[in-house]
Amino acid sequence: MDLFEWQAKELFAKYGVPTTRQVVVTSIDEVAAAADSLGGGPVMVKAQVKAGGRGKAGGVKFAPTTADAVEKAGPIMGMDIKGHTVRTLLISEAADIGEEYYFSFLLDRANRNYLAMCSSEGGMEIEELAVERPEALARVTVDPVAGVDAAKALEIATAGNIPEPVREKAAAVIEQLWQVFVGEEATLVEVNPLVRTPDDDVLALDGKVTLDDNADFRHESVHNGYRDISATDPLEVRAKELHLNYVKLDGEVGIIGNGAGLVMSTLDVVAYAGEEFGAVKPANFLDIGGGASAEVMANGLDVILSDPSVRSVFVNVFGGITSCDAVANGIVSALSLLTSRGEEVTKPLVVRLDGNNAEEGRRILTEANHPLVEQLDTMDGAARRAAELAGKAA
Ligand SMILES: Nc1ncnc2c1ncn2[C@@H]1O[C@H](COP(=O)(O)OP(=O)(O)OP(=O)(O)O)[C@@H](O)[C@H]1O
Ligand SMILES: [Mg+2]
Repeated sequence: MDLFEWQAKELFAKYGVPTTRQVVVTSIDEVAAAADSLGGGPVMVKAQVKAGGRGKAGGVKFAPTTADAVEKAGPIMGMDIKGHTVRTLLISEAADIGEEYYFSFLLDRANRNYLAMCSSEGGMEIEELAVERPEALARVTVDPVAGVDAAKALEIATAGNIPEPVREKAAAVIEQLWQVFVGEEATLVEVNPLVRTPDDDVLALDGKVTLDDNADFRHESVHNGYRDISATDPLEVRAKELHLNYVKLDGEVGIIGNGAGLVMSTLDVVAYAGEEFGAVKPANFLDIGGGASAEVMANGLDVILSDPSVRSVFVNVFGGITSCDAVANGIVSALSLLTSRGEEVTKPLVVRLDGNNAEEGRRILTEANHPLVEQLDTMDGAARRAAELAGKAA
């Protein structure tokens, strides 16, 4: 999950990273009070969108007084920056800037390591600097086990050419940023600009943080608090609440399978089969995992069936540890569970069971004789039938 600048700076403050005081507002009416609470200016009015280049787009403005802040905020609120509409503004104390530096920690997947990047030439053109004069942007590998201590932080600041008078201070900030990175389980912590004030203080004036979604469960309050529900697909939000491994896609065939690999190949097979029926495609990824209970099956079906673009559902299960009879019973009870929840099941289900105890699983489904459930023996055949039903229903 990518965070907004105000969220990133809130986390910075939690770890003692020096930054400016700030107030978040969601309407123009709140700007005056926000600026007043920060001493009546000078303040910065900053668009909060999850996209870079806000300054260049006119979304970051300096305002010497409260009245000026209100005036500057007007055109920024509602502005479109790279397809993101500005609905939140950050009113932040304006700092005196002597120099602007660049700093980041990130997960370097290619090298199976962490990487620190640092440059004394920060500010808004860092991407250009990286291309035109890569030598001005230091890249220092960080051993994940050893981490970043004072000596390592100083090594990074020195490699980035941070001037001697503020190098120690910058190194101290780098150590704190490492604590943010590790403590919050981030995959990116970026500060651009990290500034040197005329009094030789070092401050983080901008922040970009990406939190590792796989660590959600260890940071529930932080992650849930920062999740931008409005920008997430409502079905994904719902699936997340139900602890389902679900990703919304834009096709018409709902997919349920057990095991990420099987579900991935099911998506391929359905997309291929769909070409014949007006290019219907998978509507989602949903892995209900091994040992899926009737309740998990019901929750999965519930989410998929409430997707208005779904026209048919393909349940593709290969029985392993979970045997097919358990899955079949799961489907049968899931369907009655949904009915008892008052949800009418009206979309056809194509089920393919194979593997452990497949015979018995098929028998259970045949016996249940649900009018909307159809069984096929092969994955290809079932994919084709599900695609056909989705095509026909169009
Ligand atoms: N609190 C502040 N006080 C003084 N100047 C600021 C402050 N915040 C930002 N600035 C100035 O505005 C410039 C742009 O701000 P910022 O880095 O937040 O946006 P950006 O880099 O354009 O956006 P993004 O990081 O999304 O690309 C900074 O380089 C800095 O010169
Ligand atoms: Mg910036």
